[in-house]
Amino acid sequence: MELVNFGKRSDHEQRGRCRCRQASSPDDVDGTTHTSFTHRREHLRGISVQVTSILGKYKKRSSRTLDARAQGTSILQHNIRRSITAMSNDTSVLSPDDRQKLSAKFKDLPANEHGKGWNELWKQGTTPWDRDMPSLALVDTLKNKSAILGTAVDKSTESRKRVLVPGCGKGYDVLLFASQGYDAFGLDVAPEAVERANVLMKDPKLAEKYPSSSNDRGDTKVFLGDFFKSDFLAQTGGKGDFDVIYDYTFLCALPPSLRPSWAKRMGELLAPSGHLVCLEFPLGKEPKTGGPPHGLSPELYEQLLKRPGQEVEYDDDGYVVDGRDSETSSGGLVRIDRWKAKRTHAPGQGKDHVSIWMHA
Ligand SMILES: C[S@@+](CC[C@H](N)C(=O)[O-])C[C@H]1O[C@@H](n2cnc3c(N)ncnc32)[C@H](O)[C@@H]1O
Repeated sequence: MELVNFGKRSDHEQRGRCRCRQASSPDDVDGTTHTSFTHRREHLRGISVQVTSILGKYKKRSSRTLDARAQGTSILQHNIRRSITAMSNDTSVLSPDDRQKLSAKFKDLPANEHGKGWNELWKQGTTPWDRDMPSLALVDTLKNKSAILGTAVDKSTESRKRVLVPGCGKGYDVLLFASQGYDAFGLDVAPEAVERANVLMKDPKLAEKYPSSSNDRGDTKVFLGDFFKSDFLAQTGGKGDFDVIYDYTFLCALPPSLRPSWAKRMGELLAPSGHLVCLEFPLGKEPKTGGPPHGLSPELYEQLLKRPGQEVEYDDDGYVVDGRDSETSSGGLVRIDRWKAKRTHAPGQGKDHVSIWMHA
């Protein structure tokens, strides 16, 4: 299967060399200050590698002095790791300006009016989630997980499998699925997003940007509609029964009160042998910092999907309370695979995971 290579170098890589400077009020243990968050994190990673290497050398020697120095180095290494983890927990998935705009937009808006909020953001051009290309993690999933997902065209019926991408925005991932041979449906509640997606679907350069696989290209349709309502289903030719549903930056866009309904709806719309693919994002963002995007965790996905429609319990910091012992309810989904995405959009790099779920 020929898949598109959307590889893009990060800003930090493109700069080519570290511009960190010695400063009077340094950010870091080695007295440097940094031009950006990414730069600081990359710099810390660099120091960590150096320290690990020094530590390795010390460990090969036996003198007590060296052991003491090695211990000091080990503490330094521990502190650096803690700094990197703390930075990973930072809310940096958005710039402070975008973070403020998004949280202000939804702060006092009742959940049933969020659609309006999203449409306004699209209209005013506040779309920091829009990466102008499909998710690299999805490109890799379609390439590497055919043993689970099967082929885009059902061999027994010769019909194309049907995919739903809820909260699809401009629909890059819809186009990617179609390029691999699926019939792909995008759904968004914001008229402005749907309008832009429909312009994109007619882009004359599409065949170049999304070369079709050996399965030829499937159909694409992007609908205006609310994921929680059924109006859009008539246009997809049925009651749902999607072979694949792909969730990326959708669950995290919803207010936490809608999460149980999100899980219930996923269960309802997924065909009995279908696969729900979740690109888990943002992991490592503290839930109490709010959203969208709201910080998520693998435990949260698991508890929501194992008992669709049921409330989950949160602790004071907004993390879901452990419910591993509870039974999967009838209609529940089970996780059949999960891995860390090697390639993904920059804000999730090193943290994003992909999980695949099926009816229990
Ligand atoms: C953060 S954006 C992500 C867009 C797209 N997935 C991307 O990554 O480019 C979330 C999208 O979900 C849409 N959305 C929010 N609530 C929705 C709902 N109930 N039904 C359908 N779409 C919804 C918004 O309009 C918005 O375009």
